[in-house]
Amino acid sequence: MELKIYKDYNELSAAAAAMIIDCVKNKPEALLCFATGDSPKLAYEIVADRAVKEKVDFGQCFIIGLDEWMGVPPTNTGSCHWFLHEYLFNPIGIDPSQVHLFNAIGNVNDECKKMNKLIAANGIDLMVVGVGMNGHIGFNEPGTDVNSLVHVATLDEITRTVGQKYFQDKVEITKGFTVGLKQVMEAETLVMMANGKKKAPVIKRAVEETVSNDFPATFVQQHKNAVLMIDEEAASELKQ
Ligand code: F6R
Repeated sequence: MELKIYKDYNELSAAAAAMIIDCVKNKPEALLCFATGDSPKLAYEIVADRAVKEKVDFGQCFIIGLDEWMGVPPTNTGSCHWFLHEYLFNPIGIDPSQVHLFNAIGNVNDECKKMNKLIAANGIDLMVVGVGMNGHIGFNEPGTDVNSLVHVATLDEITRTVGQKYFQDKVEITKGFTVGLKQVMEAETLVMMANGKKKAPVIKRAVEETVSNDFPATFVQQHKNAVLMIDEEAASELKQ
């Protein structure tokens, strides 16, 4: 794992955006897997901005969603579906045929099967993830089997509480679709992003604790090609 520390959220986001753009330039038909949330939001906005200005060809890549709140329709502005369309797909003009996201109101088995098939057939070239306050990656909550593939996770208390920040009105979020830990570990490149003081204790645990599914983010230490990209605030509790 490579650790990269940036001055602030802006610099971190610009660097993560550059990794996404470079990946698509080097392999136009790349399979990309994207998280949503506050950590990658600005990076996606920068990607969209650069893609348009620099005419980067996103016309051949394929993008899958890392996770989704179960039961939350795509029209809800708190859904991962809405987020990726708003900040990335619509501004770049990504064709719907290039995207596969979890259908939060679809059949559980079918949804998992479809996503597993897609990942198995192509392999994920670049995965961008954030880190939850409980150390989750996607919705791979503490205790998730390291060999897990796409599944529906029961969200833990921290995820349910913190997750309300994405929603305008309070919603019942108890479960979520997620790409599994095994698939996270098998991604060719894993970009894990975190920023702000509140993530400092989380990053300390992810980097300094023994690798264990008690705190899934620790698996970043064992990934063959992971970049942990954080700002100075998120790095502030790390041992020097
Ligand atoms: C969302 C996702 C989650 C978030 C994590 C951090 O698609 O995969 O695991 O990455 O909860 O969220 P933020 O970035 O909002 O702090």
